[in-house]
Amino acid sequence: MEVVILPDAARIGAMAADAIEALLKRKPDAVLGLATGSSPLPIYDELARRHVENGLDFSRAHGFALDEYVGLPVGHRESYREVIRREFSDRVNIDPRNVHSPNGAAEDILAACEEYERAIKSAGGVDLQILGVGTDGHIGFNEPGSSLASRTRIKTLIEQTRKDNARFFSSIEEVPHHVVTQGLGTIMDARHVVLVATGAQKAQAVRDFVEGPVSAICAASVLQLHPHATVLIDEAAASSLR
Ligand code: F6R
Repeated sequence: MEVVILPDAARIGAMAADAIEALLKRKPDAVLGLATGSSPLPIYDELARRHVENGLDFSRAHGFALDEYVGLPVGHRESYREVIRREFSDRVNIDPRNVHSPNGAAEDILAACEEYERAIKSAGGVDLQILGVGTDGHIGFNEPGSSLASRTRIKTLIEQTRKDNARFFSSIEEVPHHVVTQGLGTIMDARHVVLVATGAQKAQAVRDFVEGPVSAICAASVLQLHPHATVLIDEAAASSLR
C-alpha cells in the first residue's frame, strides 16, 4: 500500500486523475470503479476539466458504481446512480449505457447482486477503483464486521454512517437503512485501487486501516493485502499516523 500525503483535496483529485488519464491513454476501453460521497468530487471535477480542456476521451470507457441505496425512488436526487450521472457521466463523453449501478430497487435483490457481479466480470473486471473511506473504516458500504471475501450484497448501514450521510438529505429519517454494495472481495479484484480521504474526521479510520491489523472490524484494512493500492490523503487525515 502506497500512502501519499498531499496539501489539499484539489491536489489529491489531480493525482487520482493522473492515474485515470494514464490508464485511459494505455487502455481506452478501461473499466472504472466509481465511488460517491464527498471525497471523490475533486477527482470528477478534474476529469471533467481535462475532458473539456484537453479532450480526455471516455468514449470507450466503462463505469461501475460501488454501491446504491435501497428504497429510494428511481431518479431520487441522492440515489448514487443520479449522483454519478450528475457529478461524472454528464460531464464527460462516457456512453451512459456503459455506466452501471447496483439495482437497489430490484424485486429480487439477491439475483440483482449476482447479475452485477457477472456484469463486472463480463466487462473484463475493474481496472481502477476509486474509493472513499467512512469514519468507521467502511469502503463501499462494507460496514464493520463485513467478510473480507464478501461479494455484492445487501447491507444495513450503522447509525454513524446514516448520521454522516444525513447532510445529503433534509433529515436523518430520510437516509435509507439498507444499501447494495460491492463486497470487499469484489473491490479486491480491481487491478488498482485509489482511496482518497481528507479532513481530521477521517484521521482515526486512516490510522486503523493503514497501521492497524487486517480485520473485518475495519473493512478498509483489507487493502493492506492488495497488490496495487494507492492512498491519497491530506495532512489532517494523516494526522494520527505514527
Ligand atoms: C460511496 C461509498 C462510501 C464513501 C464513504 C466516505 O460510494 O462507497 O464508502 O466513500 O462513506 O464518504 P465521504 O467521501 O462523503 O466522506
